Amino acid sequence: MAQSSIIPRIGFGTYRLKDQQVIDSVKSALELGYRHIDTAQVYDNEQPVGEGIRQSGVPRDEIFLTTKVWWDRFRHDDLIASLEESCRKLGVDRLDLALIHWPSPDDEVPMAEYIGALDAAREKGLTRHIGVSNFTMAHLDEAVSVPGGEHLITNQIEVHPFLANRRLVAHSQARGLEVTGYMPLAVGKVMNEPVLQQIADDHDATPAQIALAWVAAQGIAVIPSSTKPEHQRANLAALELTLSEDDMARIEHLDVGERIANPDFAPRWDT
Ligand SMILES: NC(=O)c1ccc[n+]([C@@H]2O[C@H](COP(=O)([O-])OP(=O)(O)OC[C@H]3O[C@@H](n4cnc5c(N)ncnc54)[C@H](OP(=O)(O)O)[C@@H]3O)[C@@H](O)[C@H]2O)c1
Repeated sequence: MAQSSIIPRIGFGTYRLKDQQVIDSVKSALELGYRHIDTAQVYDNEQPVGEGIRQSGVPRDEIFLTTKVWWDRFRHDDLIASLEESCRKLGVDRLDLALIHWPSPDDEVPMAEYIGALDAAREKGLTRHIGVSNFTMAHLDEAVSVPGGEHLITNQIEVHPFLANRRLVAHSQARGLEVTGYMPLAVGKVMNEPVLQQIADDHDATPAQIALAWVAAQGIAVIPSSTKPEHQRANLAALELTLSEDDMARIEHLDVGERIANPDFAPRWDT
């Protein structure tokens, strides 16, 4: 696993959440103890995410705030301008983590340009840290070798019991990057899985908690999303669970390479 752990082990995801719902959800998550919020320019919710942060009353410097740059803003100056806009919408002086959301489709913008621009944004003080998302093993190898790539701290990728993404997780960690696992609940699908339910019964927990504990046990930061305070609380508590080797092995058998986030501009995935 990656040596450092700059990224808080659990964060609050905000994909699909909009307007008042995202304000309320972010506020409640922070009140319950989350200190890491994940948004993106393309979620079109940075302004209400910022509002939720302010309404929570939690001091800005206690929160690890991530956004992601969409691939239509990858040219050098435009990428930096997009992060200035993100900060303005979120109502913050600086981000904690700025990610490249997806590699540039068909390499339309060279990686050296957009990784260099991301690092220039860091040097300018727009973000404390930088990283990537949805990068394959080959993308990562290129990213860490271009100027600025030495500052990347994470690859945010899809990880849940039905898509363990083992080779990419190992490759990212071997390159010194932390892995952040998105869609850790397979967008709610884990709740109906019988093996997860059995393990949950043994631990007096829920399948969602078991899925989160399994991802976290691999040294991967998790960023589940929920609009319900009781789910938010349960997800936070999941990191206290300790799974046995047998539990881990049973969950590993659920991996069928089932990918949920697979838009038409996605790269050719590692198998
Ligand atoms: N980098 C990328 O390309 C990328 C792609 C996708 C997602 N992400 C990030 O990852 C985050 C998480 O992914 P996601 O939101 O798509 O899916 P997810 O976190 O796997 O699942 C969210 C769903 O699970 C339900 N849920 C949450 N906690 C639960 C619990 N304890 N018991 C039962 N159901 C529960 C939620 O419903 P309720 O609201 O009813 O609780 C919601 O429907 C996103 O919000 C986003 O920040 C990043």
